[in-house]
Amino acid sequence: MNRLRLPLLTLLVSLPVLLTGCPAPPPPADSGAAPTPGAPASASTSAAPGDAAASGNSAGSTTTWGPADGLSLGGYMSLTDSLSSFGQSSNKGMGLAIEEINAKGGVNGQQLTLHMEDSASKQEEAKNAVRRLLDKHQAKVVIGEVASSLSLAVAPDCQAAKVPMVSPSSTNPTLTAKGDFIFRTCFTDDQQGAYVAKFALTKGWKAGVILRDINSDYSKGQSAVITKRFTAGGGKIVSDEGYTQKQPDFSSVLTKVKAKNPDVIFVPGYYNEAGLIIKQARELGIKAAIVGADGWDSPVLKELAGDLLNDNCYFVNHYSKTEDRPRVKEFVAAYKAKFNEEPDALAACAYDSIYVVAEAIKAAGSTEPQAIRDALAKVQNYDGVTGQITIDAQRNASKPCVVLAFKDGQEVIETTLQPSDV
Ligand code: PHE
Repeated sequence: MNRLRLPLLTLLVSLPVLLTGCPAPPPPADSGAAPTPGAPASASTSAAPGDAAASGNSAGSTTTWGPADGLSLGGYMSLTDSLSSFGQSSNKGMGLAIEEINAKGGVNGQQLTLHMEDSASKQEEAKNAVRRLLDKHQAKVVIGEVASSLSLAVAPDCQAAKVPMVSPSSTNPTLTAKGDFIFRTCFTDDQQGAYVAKFALTKGWKAGVILRDINSDYSKGQSAVITKRFTAGGGKIVSDEGYTQKQPDFSSVLTKVKAKNPDVIFVPGYYNEAGLIIKQARELGIKAAIVGADGWDSPVLKELAGDLLNDNCYFVNHYSKTEDRPRVKEFVAAYKAKFNEEPDALAACAYDSIYVVAEAIKAAGSTEPQAIRDALAKVQNYDGVTGQITIDAQRNASKPCVVLAFKDGQEVIETTLQPSDV
């Protein structure tokens, strides 16, 4: 036993380097118990923060919300590795919704149990997580993922099993086309990319650069929409450059970009790289506006870019915790009371997705996956934290967006855009 301890410790300590090829980035500011993105998974660190206050148990990188024997729902989220900021927030939003619903008597008299499995920011792990949800937990509905590439990897498995899958926040348009059991409760990148382009055009910016993450379906899809919409509105993409996830240095690509003298740089990627791009662009003296979308939503962005965010940086998002709507205020208060932190858009989208699933189960009057699927397809005007949710014929939800800027390090609403604006 003792002899085993040292090598194991050594392995755990070196795991971030093995997994990511580079040392772990700084931990998210808001999540005391959250694992450092890229940090080793272990029984204690990969459990969701807030578990102490949760109704269920946590073991390793799985969590259970609600009683052990309620109606079985499955969640899969990146509780660990590079996208853990997304997964941790989503887990908390879903857990809060489950507990609220159960406290009000559950659905059709039955309590809900959410089994949460770790997709660990990787396609293979997402597939394994969903296998466990379908086979071991016999989940009636599967809820996940955030990152489009991970949702896309798993959708065919849910479709084949004929178990409805609901993504709270994956925006890649092709996702729900994977089959009639695949839903989302958020807008698609067709809409989000149009919002990004519209915002830039409204600002009068004409020369744009795209920086795309070449390994992300989300980033590639959104880049295409931004290009199409920005160009159609009179803008011009003067340069389109690729980068890869976990890339630490953007100076050569940014030097090229600087020479083009753009008005705006679009960065439709995730927070780790967006944070570094903002920092390194400003260090190089690039003054252009830098605009992104929901993938920026993480405290890690603020840690990486710091005060530089206050100047000419914007991103489109699903909601803002500062919105004046009563639904938002109630949600923010309940989340803060439970987790002692403020909910980002991931938490809000995830919270809404559980309520939409609960509504569908209630309307179905059945716990059979086929009946729940049919009821999901008919959800209309659900009053969510992230706006009204109506599932359309393509199983997507058309919704407004907020465009966020930063002031003194805090997000502020620059403007809001409606579906009719694009
Ligand atoms: N929309 C992103 C994707 O599809 C994920 C995301 C959602 C990120 C919401 C942040 C906030 O990959």
